[in-house]
Amino acid sequence: MGMKVLVTGGCGYIGSHTSVALLQAGFAVVLFDNLSNSTSAVLGPIARLGGPKVTLVQGDVRQPDDLAQVFADHRFDAVIHFAGLKAVSESVQVPLNYYEHNVSGTLQLLRAMDVAGVRRLVFSSSATVYAEDAACPLNESAALDATNPYGRSKLMCEQLLCDVQAADPRWQVAVLRYFNPVGAHPSGEMGELPIGVPQNLMPMITQATKGLRPHLSIFGDDYPTPDGTAVRDYIHVQDLAAGHVAALAYMAHQDKGLTVNLGTGRGVSVKEMIDTFERVNAVQVPYRWAARRAGDVAVRFADVGLAQQLMGWRAQLSLDEMCRDAWRWQTTGAGAP
Ligand code: NAD
Ligand code: UFG
Repeated sequence: MGMKVLVTGGCGYIGSHTSVALLQAGFAVVLFDNLSNSTSAVLGPIARLGGPKVTLVQGDVRQPDDLAQVFADHRFDAVIHFAGLKAVSESVQVPLNYYEHNVSGTLQLLRAMDVAGVRRLVFSSSATVYAEDAACPLNESAALDATNPYGRSKLMCEQLLCDVQAADPRWQVAVLRYFNPVGAHPSGEMGELPIGVPQNLMPMITQATKGLRPHLSIFGDDYPTPDGTAVRDYIHVQDLAAGHVAALAYMAHQDKGLTVNLGTGRGVSVKEMIDTFERVNAVQVPYRWAARRAGDVAVRFADVGLAQQLMGWRAQLSLDEMCRDAWRWQTTGAGAP
């Protein structure tokens, strides 16, 4: 194809897997990352797994000069924008950081793209933009609302992207609302590198099982679900990566943007996840029951019909594969801190 894509936050968890998928699909890739939550060492695995047409530019999306430089040095066909901060609890403590990286960073990026005449963008949004009481399965027209600065920063970005497209039809934006990304590259060479104590379920399971944490706390046993534990829509990061390639193909063929959920459409409880992890990997997860975590909803899973209808994309990988690949990364990859 010979197309070149700028991947902001490309050294991070989802960005690194997506970059491999892009390279395998024939794109050249420029990673643009300030390495605040990742390392340049991931460039090796990306090139080994995807191919050599990848370079890293160290820069910050909040800095107009950094962006101007990368657009001056390369001619891009599209941008995928992962760069940003993503921890809900941290966003409550330091909201300005979240608005600065996520909202201001996106604004600066859009300005630089506009000046360079590159107006095709894939944006990382989140299921967190849906109102807490919206009914599941959540479809893309469900009510939107956010309950914390992280979620609000994503919602603000979605709104400004909508305004930009309405004002100038040359813009094409694919807004991808991720549900719960988990797992790692099946090679064991790439995965998530959580800093400090993980907040999310899967890295907590792998670290507790490895003995790096005393135990996993299951937050809540009294939700109105079959086993009393909360239900989420976990999606393998490899499927998520393929969703980004599908979004670029959609915009190239249809000449317009879209907003879609990326999930599996299947709800999985915390207990089901633990049971599956133990069976697939023949291990025991040390866990204890704990009170509900503030801010958690009981059930959240996606309606994935629109992504399939518009992009011909649907998640392929099973919960077994998510558990197997996450554990391989924890035990054999660089995932073990
Ligand atoms: P990550 O932290 O692994 O990756 C983000 C990358 O962006 C990191 O490499 C970091 O160094 C870089 N970065 C941060 N601020 C930057 C800045 N100002 N300039 C340049 N680079 C910067 O996170 P991830 O899990 O790969 O998430 C990627 C995107 O997907 C984020 O926008 C996140 O909000 C969104 N998202 C993630 C999840 C999830 O559960 N992982 C769910 C929904 C949405
Ligand atoms: N959980 C535990 N123990 C843990 C960690 C999590 O029982 O140690 C439970 C949670 O209570 C929840 C489920 O596992 O019921 C999933 O929790 P995660 O933190 O992994 O994921 P969330 O669904 O809470 O949040 C994720 C992202 C957010 C994003 C949100 C959107 O982490 O960034 O999805 O739905 F906003």
